[in-house]
Amino acid sequence: MHSVYGIGGRGGFERMASGNSLTISSVSKSFNSEKVFDALSFEVVPGDRVQIVGPSGIGKTTLLNILASYDMPSSGQVSYGGVALTAMPTDQLADYRQRLGFVFQEPLIIGDLTGMENILLPFVPRSGAEVDGLKSGATKLADTLGVDTVVRHKANTMSTGEKKRIEMVRALVKNPEILILDEPTANLDEEAATIIIRTVKEQADLGRCVVFSVHRDEKLMSIANKSVRLLDYK
Ligand SMILES: Nc1ncnc2c1ncn2[C@@H]1O[C@H](COP(=O)(O)OP(=O)(O)O)[C@@H](O)[C@H]1O
Ligand SMILES: [Mg+2]
Repeated sequence: MHSVYGIGGRGGFERMASGNSLTISSVSKSFNSEKVFDALSFEVVPGDRVQIVGPSGIGKTTLLNILASYDMPSSGQVSYGGVALTAMPTDQLADYRQRLGFVFQEPLIIGDLTGMENILLPFVPRSGAEVDGLKSGATKLADTLGVDTVVRHKANTMSTGEKKRIEMVRALVKNPEILILDEPTANLDEEAATIIIRTVKEQADLGRCVVFSVHRDEKLMSIANKSVRLLDYK
């Protein structure tokens, strides 16, 4: 399998916030010597809404996982603030992950826990006061995302669109500098998709580095200002 990519622009930046950029330099990835993508290079600056476009199986999730440091490139590097993720000592990499909000393609949510318990789960080791602050932030975000009631329900009673918005609250509650979303609107009803798209745009306007993958949602595509298209040469 072999993929190539193209980068196109869609208008300029509304504003350039100060902050760190994410730089992707000649990144390639293979699984069992099968190439998924080759020598990808692009930059995500604060305020950007970069879309990773392509059909199912092309490598979108693989690329987002590499940007998030959940997977390693086969060659090339991803840098944040000029430092390669692979060169970061453990504590700096932990800090990078702390600055990152990630929305998984399939909601990564525990069914027996409530929405709020799911949102706060990654922050369990923190002090009670800190968790209280996060809970108050999560309550406001849940309200904005239209899941203020749902957040008190067990996740196994929620629709996919509700779970996705709970996942979104969990990603946003720590005020991430980088927001990575893997097909955030796939299989959602129009109302849930509209809320998510509006929120994604707002996050970029706040100066976050935003990257999302998209297969065919034209409305989501319309908010991107940069595009990385993965092409299949299987
Ligand atoms: N851990 C893995 N081991 C082997 N192959 C993988 C692994 N993860 C993904 N792949 C393969 O890489 C390709 C791209 O997958 P993926 O990134 O999930 O695509 P997309 O998100 O665009 O649907 C697929 O052929 C998939 O089977
Ligand atoms: Mg995927």
